[in-house]
Amino acid sequence: MKNLTSIAEYYKTDKYEHGYTKTYEKYFDNLREKKLQILEIGVADGKSLLTWSDYFKNSTIIGIDIHKINLIEKNLVRTNIKVHQGSQSDENFIKEIVNKYGNFDIIIDDGSHLKKDVIKSFHLLFPYLNNEGLYVVEDMQTSYNHFFGGNPFDLKYSNSHMNFFKHLTDRLNYQEIANPFYVANKYDAKITNVSFYHNLVFVRKGVNDKLSKEVINHSYEDMKFIEKSSRTGNSFRYYLKYKISYKIFTLVFLIFTMIKRILLLRF
Ligand SMILES: C[S@@+](CC[C@H](N)C(=O)[O-])C[C@H]1O[C@@H](n2cnc3c(N)ncnc32)[C@H](O)[C@@H]1O
Repeated sequence: MKNLTSIAEYYKTDKYEHGYTKTYEKYFDNLREKKLQILEIGVADGKSLLTWSDYFKNSTIIGIDIHKINLIEKNLVRTNIKVHQGSQSDENFIKEIVNKYGNFDIIIDDGSHLKKDVIKSFHLLFPYLNNEGLYVVEDMQTSYNHFFGGNPFDLKYSNSHMNFFKHLTDRLNYQEIANPFYVANKYDAKITNVSFYHNLVFVRKGVNDKLSKEVINHSYEDMKFIEKSSRTGNSFRYYLKYKISYKIFTLVFLIFTMIKRILLLRF
């Protein structure tokens, strides 16, 4: 049986040239025989769909592309390949796709690589990824290129797609954030892994709701107060210490950080 890299080389998909297939093999080798639903954004000549179709023999490969794809011309007439025309960031089109196919096990974004499309399709499609499913975005180098909506001049604070995925890592640890005013994020508890490779990002969906050992309801002071006063029975002393003085420190630190963010125009 041929491995993914040799199938990709045979079909001449650029996933081989870019070296992505070696990384994909690490994630996909044990899934190969399963019956999965795989969605790829961006069909072009269909080289990657043909690769997935050979590699995942028992799976359904769904490709979407903004342009009309001639299935006969591209040799894409196969029982396990389905192709639809529409944009990855068109909400109605994505609704049609998920109504037709339901949830996916693997979603690969190899579409426009524009920031607005990469982020919007993630928001639209992530709810339809099965638990333990993988969301992959290729060609993340576009995040360092302002012609794709990226930002080569501000790698840390710009709203680039790379920063969008970097910030998803905070969702892994959302329970640990000691901010009593923490506002819940829709990806909290739903992501178990975010991995970065050269120009590639993998996001694993899953249940991640383990409680923190440090904070309760995003408050270190409250956790410490409960812990200490229940252990010693001396709640007045610990009330003064944690509920008053520690809380004042938290508030001062919060105000200082907010002023700094406003002055630096970091919203
Ligand atoms: C890099 S090619 C895909 C290559 C293919 N996945 C492969 O590996 O062989 C990108 C494709 O994305 C399509 N595309 C561009 N913008 C899109 C959008 N907004 N929605 C869906 N597809 C889009 C283009 O038409 C093009 O065919």
